[in-house]
Amino acid sequence: MLRIGILTSGGDCQALNAAMRGVIKGLSVKRNDLEIYGFRDGYKGLIYDIADRMTPDDFSGILNRGGTILGTSRQPFKKMRIPDENGLDKVKAMKNNYRKYKLDCLVVLGGNGTHKTANMLREEGLNVVTLPKTIDNDLWGTEMTFGFQSAVDIATDTIDRIHTTASSHSRVFIIEVMGHKVGHVTLQSGIAGGADVILLPEIPYDIDKVAEVVENRFAAGKKFSIIAVAEGAISKEDAKLKKKQYKAKLAERRYPSVAYEIAAALEEKTKREIRVTVPGHTQRGGAPCAYDRVLATRVGAYAAELILNKEYGYMVGIVDGDTKKVPLSEVAGKLKYVDPKCQMIKDAKTIGISFGE
Ligand code: F6P
Repeated sequence: MLRIGILTSGGDCQALNAAMRGVIKGLSVKRNDLEIYGFRDGYKGLIYDIADRMTPDDFSGILNRGGTILGTSRQPFKKMRIPDENGLDKVKAMKNNYRKYKLDCLVVLGGNGTHKTANMLREEGLNVVTLPKTIDNDLWGTEMTFGFQSAVDIATDTIDRIHTTASSHSRVFIIEVMGHKVGHVTLQSGIAGGADVILLPEIPYDIDKVAEVVENRFAAGKKFSIIAVAEGAISKEDAKLKKKQYKAKLAERRYPSVAYEIAAALEEKTKREIRVTVPGHTQRGGAPCAYDRVLATRVGAYAAELILNKEYGYMVGIVDGDTKKVPLSEVAGKLKYVDPKCQMIKDAKTIGISFGE
């Protein structure tokens, strides 16, 4: 008997189902004695024992389905060691439920916070194998996370659509792209969508420089400007603040998000007509693109190999373009930022894209 627990945790993204299908298909091709327990809504299911006995058939026909058939939730790592409102020790509860189902391995699909908890469970003695999901592509230890390319496609489509209306109305448009504290989605969708300015958390912007680009474009006869802004973008001024001061400033922000703040500042400086578009969670919704289906299937299949070989305590990452096991202890707690000196940024600058420096 091979007993597997599986859960998806944190914000959802495209290809979560494709990745689970990859794992279960990879296991069921070799073993017909599988016992699968699907924990509902992320770690919540493991803590509170909300689990369903599932069969390989439950993971069939879901390759192109968005979201996650298991459901998900955010369970912040920093609260994991704090008892819940009824005094329940969450870590103990997860260990007990793992043992209750006599699991050989727990398969966890998630992003940064999820990996911290997965590593903690590994340290607590559980057999864990993880898969890297997030549209943000900010997980350390893998060149690519599934969800990312689908989100880039959606954000690019938004920028494409904004292009036509911006040019018709001679407007400046700001498109706010998801990505939490990193700028991978914004950088790639900005380049793919032909943005004139790309503002990333990793390169603090100077609003005067952004205004200069817009004015220079109008002076050169260009009727519109497109600015792709990462939701975590920060001004040079704010980047100098201490973390605590910046948090306090954010809490008092008059605008719903950074894009609106930039729009207001830019409007004041340029007196131009500015509009903001925030595609938001559409970037995480719908079917995965072909790239993500392939990636998710590959990391899922590799995870199955690890489990069949009883190799636990790893995330399956993409290293030098191929699937590879990466020790969970090395992944947990590290963010993968955009390197401001990377060649992609140099190439973007070569064709005149401004980063607002
Ligand atoms: O981590 C994925 C992500 O979509 C980030 O890009 C974004 O900041 C965050 O999740 C939004 O979280 P929620 O779905 O909880 O609003």
